Amino acid sequence: MRNILCNVINPISANEAAFLPRQIITIQDGVITSVRPDDGRTACEDYSDKIALPGFIDLHVHLSQYMMRGLYEPALLPWLNKHVFPEEARSAEADYASNLAQLFFNALCSVGTTMSVIYTAPFPTACKTAFEQADAMGIRALIGMTMMDKNSPDELLQNTNDSLQQSIELYNRWHSKNPMLDYIFTPRFAPTCSMELMQEVARFADNNNAWVQTHLSENTDELSWVKELFGLSSYTEVYHKAGLLRPKSIFAHAIHLSPQELVLLKEHDAKIAHCPDSNFYLKSGEYPLQLIMDAGIRFGLGSDVGAGTSLNMLHHTKMMNFRQSSLAVLPTNALYHITLGSAKLLGMDDKIGSITRGKEADIVFLSPPAGYSIGEQSLSQLVFFGSEFKVMETMVAGKSLYIA
Ligand code: GUN
Ligand code: ZN
Repeated sequence: MRNILCNVINPISANEAAFLPRQIITIQDGVITSVRPDDGRTACEDYSDKIALPGFIDLHVHLSQYMMRGLYEPALLPWLNKHVFPEEARSAEADYASNLAQLFFNALCSVGTTMSVIYTAPFPTACKTAFEQADAMGIRALIGMTMMDKNSPDELLQNTNDSLQQSIELYNRWHSKNPMLDYIFTPRFAPTCSMELMQEVARFADNNNAWVQTHLSENTDELSWVKELFGLSSYTEVYHKAGLLRPKSIFAHAIHLSPQELVLLKEHDAKIAHCPDSNFYLKSGEYPLQLIMDAGIRFGLGSDVGAGTSLNMLHHTKMMNFRQSSLAVLPTNALYHITLGSAKLLGMDDKIGSITRGKEADIVFLSPPAGYSIGEQSLSQLVFFGSEFKVMETMVAGKSLYIA
């Protein structure tokens, strides 16, 4: 059991967060058994100079691209060809993939991320080693092997049936082995996936109530290519035809959408991973935040490393505001989209997303920069210069995975 005396910032809704000074968080068997004001009598670990936040959720991140962050090419398709595909090909080698997975999970913990939705390279061994590392370390994640069965370099190109069978094997192996881990089917994006592959993924996922992730409408050259390849009325319509529009599908980016596409996404309760840093790194465009909110489509923030430049989700809360040219994103709203909002979207808010009695103890403890006090203003400061706050400890289900 641990009693930790600290200052809690808790998301409540998209428009509300609570600042609770000097609370005792009690953790037993990985679960938060109480959060209550300091009574001055209970023996506690003294974290009273630290802020406790629910561990951060990264809704879209490429493990296979962790080492090629910052390799620049200012447009999606040339960037994929020049930097991403050669780097992902390196993960064909089991040792490389295994070392990379370990580095990556340690890096996630060091920035306070306690749940992530992950793409691995298009090799079963790369995905397998990621699961094995995550399982051994106590990581919480959805992890999938990237699928690509056309228009891909030879080193990455998969046979349609192999890609499907290997993904199903990984699903069967990991779906119910460890409650902290699950498989997510991961067709890369429409240009590198046949309609047959996408339809088979949708069929299996529907029959098994499984998760799916892919990319949607990121870049205008990509849109033209999708039009050329599939000839349908829109990019979203391609996924609709494949059967991939569904509540347990997460679409990354979703920038250049028509009103009809917004209606389709909403009708099927599909989810979006909003990746503001990546969207401007690759000059893909501005996320239509107002339109998405007006349409009532649910979304959370993704780092999109390696097009995103940082794994630190507090960098992405800042970008959520900065990458809107006129809409002001308030700190409560930004926090919600890396914590409780994403937990709800994933159907995991009974377990994670806030520091609440009965939830699992996924908590990050941070210290402000020297001279800054902790108070009501801390949330705003975290959202706008959170990467200057030092992560002191990160725990997942009560297990400490990182200590500074
Ligand atoms: N579209 C297809 N693959 C990728 C990828 O790896 N990163 C990004 N940002 N977009 C993609
Ligand atoms: Zn991505």
